Parts: sequence; C-alpha cells; structure tokens
Amino acid sequence: MTDKESSPKRKITISDLRCRRASLDRITMLTCYDAAFAALLDDCGVDVLLVGDSLGMVLQGHQSTIPVTIEDMAYHTRCVARGNSSAWIIGDMPFGSYQESPAQAYKNAAILMAAGAQMVKLEGGAWLAPTIKFLTERGIPVCGHLGLTPQSVHSLGGYKVQGRDESAANHLLADAKALESAGAQMLVLELIPSPLGQRVTDSLTIPTIGIGAGPHTTGQVLVLHDILDITPGRRPRFAKNFMHGQTSIRGAIARFIYEVKTGEYPAPEHGFSS
Ligand code: KIV
Repeated sequence: MTDKESSPKRKITISDLRCRRASLDRITMLTCYDAAFAALLDDCGVDVLLVGDSLGMVLQGHQSTIPVTIEDMAYHTRCVARGNSSAWIIGDMPFGSYQESPAQAYKNAAILMAAGAQMVKLEGGAWLAPTIKFLTERGIPVCGHLGLTPQSVHSLGGYKVQGRDESAANHLLADAKALESAGAQMLVLELIPSPLGQRVTDSLTIPTIGIGAGPHTTGQVLVLHDILDITPGRRPRFAKNFMHGQTSIRGAIARFIYEVKTGEYPAPEHGFSS
C-alpha cells in the first residue's frame, strides 16, 4: 500500500481557504490545464488549481484569451478534476460566456461545475454584482477578478498595470467591495500597484489572490508554464522563473510553495509602484 492509499489527503474547502486569511497562512494557486499536472501540483501541496482561460495563449497559441470557448474550458476542467484529489479547483468563465445576463452565466457556470470545478471565476467590476448574486444564491461559488482583466485587453489598450492613479485605485476598491457584497468568496487581483493590493486586501474579508499585485494579498497565483520557464518570449516581471536552481519540475513547484508561504515571493522587484 502506498502512503497515498493509506492516508488520503483531505479535500480543501472554501471554509479552509477563508480561514487562511485570519491565520496569515498564504494560499498557493497555480494554473493547471491537464490531469498529469493536476496530480503533480496536488501531490506537491498546491492549495488551488486554476483552470485559467490563459490556456488559450499557453496551450492553444492564441495572442489573447478571447477565442477560448466554454467547451474548451469544460474539457480542460474535466482533465484537471480527474488528476486532482484534494486541491480546490476554480474554472474560468471564458469571454462571451457570462456578460450577457445572469441566466447565461448560470447556464455556462453549471457546465464548468458539472465538469469538476468547485468555483467559477469571472472578470469584471460592479456591473457583475447581479450575476454574482444570481450564481451564489444558486449554489455556485464565485471568484472575482479585477485589475488587468485579460478578456478586456483591447479596451484596456494592452497588458498594462491598472489602478495607478488615485481615481482608478478608488474605482477598483469600490468594485472589489461590490463583488464581495454580491457574494464573491475570493478575488484575484492582477497587475496592480503593491500598495493597492494591500489596500484592497485590508478592506475585504474574503481572501485576495495576487498576480503582480505585491506581497500583501492572502495568496499568490502564477501561470504554471511561466514559472517552469516554458512560455516562449518575454516573461512578465512578476512571473519568476522557479526552475532556476532546480533540477526537476517537482522541485520548482515545491520552491514556489515555499517562497509564497515564507513571503520570499513576491520580492519588491516582482511588484509595481503607484
Ligand atoms: O487565466 C488565467 O490564468 C488567470 C490568471 C492569470 C489569474 O486568470
């Protein structure tokens, strides 16, 4: 009998993740798109697997996440769910699958939940509050996503740091509060100044998960292929190469977990100022 068979790891729940805010035990999240990596990341002890629509760029070779479909997301969510045993799984709602109405969002979120997601993630601010309320009242946990929202890359004028001036920062903070009030139970903050990451985190009771949002969020998320140095071209400044100094993928994942937990990552050079 292997150790895994004799003592299966307990499944992580949303209550566990909420408690991590109070205990200051940082949450580790990585993107994951298939069963093999799901089994490895889960075994290494990553808390949350995000089936991100970044798979459109990372796996499918698109220039943005916009072409990703709900069928693509359901397929990859099923693969991840088969490989995973204890991590919390978040499925990304792709572009065009939730913006139209709460009913449209429910129909597509239900597809991801049936595929094995335990929570869905939607990009956008206060305008999404009625949709988040609709989903959460019907038993679908929701993670918000503010700051650089990649599905809006063409409106934002590129992959740029958001919330840099006082008015944009105040707007983002108001959005974060609106999402929490509507029932969101977690919030991803992407590419914002580190002081704003702290301000938003301090103003909410739900866990915040940063990606290029500084060291003060409840947890950190990165794109798996970035930290394994597989992504072609220039890596964003916050996306540390965790393969550096490691001889295996397992070693790089373990290092990511260690550095997030100890606060070594993100270092000042991975963050942005106002
Ligand atoms: O799709 C994704 O991978 C994401 C992360 C960048 C947070 O949304």
